[in-house]
Amino acid sequence: MNKIIDLRSDTVTLPTSEMLQAINEANLGDDVYVEDSSTLELEALAAEITGMESALLVSSGTMGNLVSNLVHCPRGTEVIMGHKSHTFIYESGGISTYGGIHSHQLKNNDDGTININDIKDAIRIDDVHFPKTSLICIENTHNKCYGFPLELNYINLVCDTAHENNIKVHMDGARMFNACVALDVDAKKVLENVDSVTFCLSKGLSSPIGSVICGTRNFIKEARRIRKSLGGGMRQTGVFASAGIVGLRSMRSRLKEDHQNAKFLAQSIYNLDGIELNLDYIQTNIIFFNFNHPHISSSELVAHMKSNGILFSDYNGKHCRLVTHNDISRKDVENVIDVFNKLLS
Ligand SMILES: Cc1ncc(COP(=O)(O)O)c(C=O)c1O
Repeated sequence: MNKIIDLRSDTVTLPTSEMLQAINEANLGDDVYVEDSSTLELEALAAEITGMESALLVSSGTMGNLVSNLVHCPRGTEVIMGHKSHTFIYESGGISTYGGIHSHQLKNNDDGTININDIKDAIRIDDVHFPKTSLICIENTHNKCYGFPLELNYINLVCDTAHENNIKVHMDGARMFNACVALDVDAKKVLENVDSVTFCLSKGLSSPIGSVICGTRNFIKEARRIRKSLGGGMRQTGVFASAGIVGLRSMRSRLKEDHQNAKFLAQSIYNLDGIELNLDYIQTNIIFFNFNHPHISSSELVAHMKSNGILFSDYNGKHCRLVTHNDISRKDVENVIDVFNKLLS
């Protein structure tokens, strides 16, 4: 049987053989008692890599963002975030359901930024009519905004604006290491002025499960309590933390290959019939294009590719997203290009 080439997301990556071996050999304990040595090792490594004081393993990126928002935002306060942010669109409104946190959505530009003046205008003045602003969330790389990495200058400007107003900054860094690779900057630099970050082990880093929250010691202490209250205190988490350690140690630098494959794929299909794609927007491992063909709809395109063993998603009957990752080789990309060419040239 031919291999299925799954470009729906980098979450579909399977653990590498090195990870499976690490899982098999992991030192386990009870993580609610803070006794799982693999988890403790992963958290120490995450803190070291991010330059943050402390770290906490959680089940998913969604839980990491939820816990971080719950720590930063007292009930009834407001968080500023982009209207295309993952937390606003795809996290089931958890921050309002569980935290009574009000979200103030501002327009995301195509590159994932929010205009600084919009942020300044959105910060609430002290008035009984308004909720207090407690947090700004930024997303890096930005999933819905073409996988754009945020520039250091921009991140620091958001942080300065927030801190001048006694507001914290949380980064949804589900794919932060893709940003580090794309901009060739160290995670410590990216996070120098950020108060907390969540990054995912289970996307480009190829681990099967898990995300990590990083922040100050006090922040993580409180995050641990909230994680427990949400049912996120787990026991022998070394079963997947061990794979996360391999992901952090050996999978970050190879993200570059995913970016090169995405660029190559985009360059090879952008002038085919119906495909509308801005090559300058392909900065990491995510390709978005609009599909406007006189005879083929985007769902027909997706179905045709699926019948050729190639999976990707379309949204709103128009936008298609393809994501490269560790389980997609250059040969797979060439096969995908072949099938696109046969249908659309
Ligand atoms: C930017 C971003 N944040 C958060 C998440 C949530 O991660 P998880 O699926 O682990 O909950 C995702 C998942 O795709 C994402 O793309």
